[in-house]
Amino acid sequence: MKLGLIGDPVSHSRSPQMMRAAFADIGLTASYEAIAVSKELLPQNLGQGPIGGWDGFNVTIPHKVGVIDLLDDLDESAWTIGAVNTVVVRDRKRIGYNTDGVGYLRSLEQETGITVGGQSVVILGAGGAARAVATILAKEGATEIQILNRTYSKAEELAGHLGRWTTAKACSLENGKEAIRQASLLINTTSIGMYPNVDQLPIPEEWIIPHVLVSDLIYNPKETLFIQKARQKGCEVHYGLGMLVHQAAYALELWTGQKAPVEVMRSALEESLSVQNT
Ligand code: ATR
Repeated sequence: MKLGLIGDPVSHSRSPQMMRAAFADIGLTASYEAIAVSKELLPQNLGQGPIGGWDGFNVTIPHKVGVIDLLDDLDESAWTIGAVNTVVVRDRKRIGYNTDGVGYLRSLEQETGITVGGQSVVILGAGGAARAVATILAKEGATEIQILNRTYSKAEELAGHLGRWTTAKACSLENGKEAIRQASLLINTTSIGMYPNVDQLPIPEEWIIPHVLVSDLIYNPKETLFIQKARQKGCEVHYGLGMLVHQAAYALELWTGQKAPVEVMRSALEESLSVQNT
């Protein structure tokens, strides 16, 4: 199989390492190439050159939304999130999927043992990652979702989208502490705390209280300051690395129909991140 990744840039991506480790483990003869493509050149690059011959590919920033118009069909996962991160080629047709939501769900449920049904959730941030995570939580039966974001209008927009599946509302920054006090699951989807700004917290430290499960999508550093503070206060925590592994594993399953070697992919990712940070 010929598989790959398009984005701009792609040099930071850990997908090649994860995918190649997985191919070797399951005995699949496949290539996985990462190609940088600018927004302007996306339409012509999809139809020709190496990308034209790919059997499937991942899509990253800045093409997750722009690629939609260039595909033959969209899976429900992509149209409810409004972004594509995986393209499957079936009968010469390109179908867009989004594996971020399922990736997050599998990681959260498998690594913490909780089920999403019945959770009362506060999500920090209202960008693309928040949309993917919030949509799957809403569809899986979270009782209530509150969106807390620097830009209130974006939180309102996302809450409106989620209203199809669950009770969802935007939360003002002044009401954030109280919203978190009543939540069972608190998720950071912003980039606050990401390398190199590792000393930043997305909310005041005193808002973190022991009964809430604290989840952070950031995987570099592996343990953000937010997760560290939450752990010190006795919260159960969920790390960001798992979502990255599971979204890739699910993409591989869609392309090959085979079960992905999740732990092999996780080790490959951890190894590549430790090399990067030394
Ligand atoms: P992604 O696709 O990774 O989610 P994004 O769409 O750029 O990235 O969204 C980033 C989110 O993090 C946004 O909700 C952003 O808040 P705004 O909507 O106000 O822009 C939030 N964010 C990023 N940096 C932030 C900061 N320094 N303080 C508060 N919020 C921040």
